[in-house]
Amino acid sequence: MDAIPIPRTLAAALASARRVVALTGAGVSAESGVPTFRDAQTGLWARFDPRELATPAAFERHPGLVWNWYAERREALGRVSPNPGHYALADIERRVPAFLLATQNVDGLHGRAGSRAMVELHGNLARTRCSREGRIVSRWDAPRDGEPPRCPHCSAFLRPDVVWFEEMLPADALARAEEEARRADLMIVAGTSAEVYPAAALPRYAKGAGAVLVEVNPHETPLSRFADHVLRAPSGVALPGLVSSAWPVGGGAK
Ligand code: APR
Repeated sequence: MDAIPIPRTLAAALASARRVVALTGAGVSAESGVPTFRDAQTGLWARFDPRELATPAAFERHPGLVWNWYAERREALGRVSPNPGHYALADIERRVPAFLLATQNVDGLHGRAGSRAMVELHGNLARTRCSREGRIVSRWDAPRDGEPPRCPHCSAFLRPDVVWFEEMLPADALARAEEEARRADLMIVAGTSAEVYPAAALPRYAKGAGAVLVEVNPHETPLSRFADHVLRAPSGVALPGLVSSAWPVGGGAK
């Protein structure tokens, strides 16, 4: 897709913003080839509903099955790379005085693209933790057939360090995102259906506190009608376009 037109008022608002917050979701990684929850259900997994795999109850009933599903997703991440949308957000972070990226993605691609001021609201698939004590574990013995590996400290099953349906988000990450959303003068919401709470409430806090709200999504969402600007394009196109409009080459960074 070719570059998209960026409204001048939006470019100017970003270039002059002091505090910027971005919220991202699965759509930002679509152009990297990371399958969304639904797309991931192919082959062996086609007969399972992801909402029934990504829950504490599923792990209790079928721990080996849930572990293997995530293990496959984790391996797939080794074969993908950040796309221009991820890099543009890392670029914005370097250009504005205060920035926070709140992501719902567990794929780690924002970090690989250079984002540093970041909260991962739904965890990170690359990390593994003890299902009983929560401690992060990086080594374990080979598991018994059909079971997840066990915690080397307490022998409970290990699980991915992600937030499942029906689980609480990490309180400190959520609190930081909420605080920054309320203080932001511009918020970018990219690649999220804006339907899964509590992350979906963040843009409303920002807007309520007077921030300019920018949505980047090829499709309409419940947020679209609240947004001051809607860029109806893939984030790998719209976000680099936004950066080059706000800080034209030769114009220099702040
Ligand atoms: N660029 C930008 N947005 C895109 C692109 C793209 N190239 N491709 C798709 N999208 C948009 C879709 O239009 C949709 O609105 O990305 C959004 C993806 O929505 P979801 O799959 O619902 O992802 P997300 O909002 O991240 O879901 C939130 O729910 O599934 C759980 O825990 C999981 O973190 C996830 C959470």
